[in-house]
Amino acid sequence: MDEDGWNSEQICVEDCTRCPALVDSRSRIVDGTGPTAADLLLIGEAPGAQEDENGEPFVGRSGDVLDDGLREVGLARGDVRISNCVRCRPPDNRDPTTEELGNCRGYIEREIAAVDPELVVTLGKVPAEHLLDRSVAVTAEAGDLDGLTADGHSFPVLVCVHPAATLYDPSQRETFTSALERAAEYVGSGGQSTFDSFG
Ligand code: URA
Repeated sequence: MDEDGWNSEQICVEDCTRCPALVDSRSRIVDGTGPTAADLLLIGEAPGAQEDENGEPFVGRSGDVLDDGLREVGLARGDVRISNCVRCRPPDNRDPTTEELGNCRGYIEREIAAVDPELVVTLGKVPAEHLLDRSVAVTAEAGDLDGLTADGHSFPVLVCVHPAATLYDPSQRETFTSALERAAEYVGSGGQSTFDSFG
C-alpha cells in the first residue's frame, strides 16, 4: 500500500479518509471488480446502498440492467472490469460533490492505467463529465468516442447512458444497448472499428 492507501498489486484502495461525509456514510470502500487486464473498463458514478453492503460495484437494480445489457451484446460481467469515479457511498444516494470526485480522481486514474483497457465506457453523466472534463449530453452522445489521459497515457472513451436511466425511462433502453454494442464492436475489432475514432 502506498501513502495514498492505494494497493497497486490488488488495484484497490485499502484505506482513505479524504472525504469526511463519505467516511461517515460508507460501510466500506467499494473498489473495481473484474479482470485486472480487461479489454473493457466500465465506470459509473459512486456506489449505492447495495454496492455499499456487498462491496461490489453495480450489484443493485442498475447492476441487473447492466448484466442484461452486457449479455445482449455477447459479454458477461466476468469479461469486463467495472468501477466507479467515487468509491464510497454518498449519504442519501446524493451525487458525489466536485470535491469528492477530485479526491478520488487519482484512484480511478491509477485503475485505468493499471487495467490498460482497450476502451473505457462511462455509465451516465457524472463519470462522462468528470473523466472527459467537459459537459456531456449523454443521450445525444451515447455511443460516441472521446479520449482521456490517465497517469500520462491516453485511452479511448465511449459515452453510455447510466443503466438506471433505462429504469426511469424505458425509451433509453435502446440507447443503452446500442452504446454497449458499439463498445463490444470496438474491442472485438481490436480498436479498428469502422466508426469514427476519437480525436
Ligand atoms: N450506480 C453507479 O454509478 N455505480 C454503482 O456502483 C451502482 C449504481
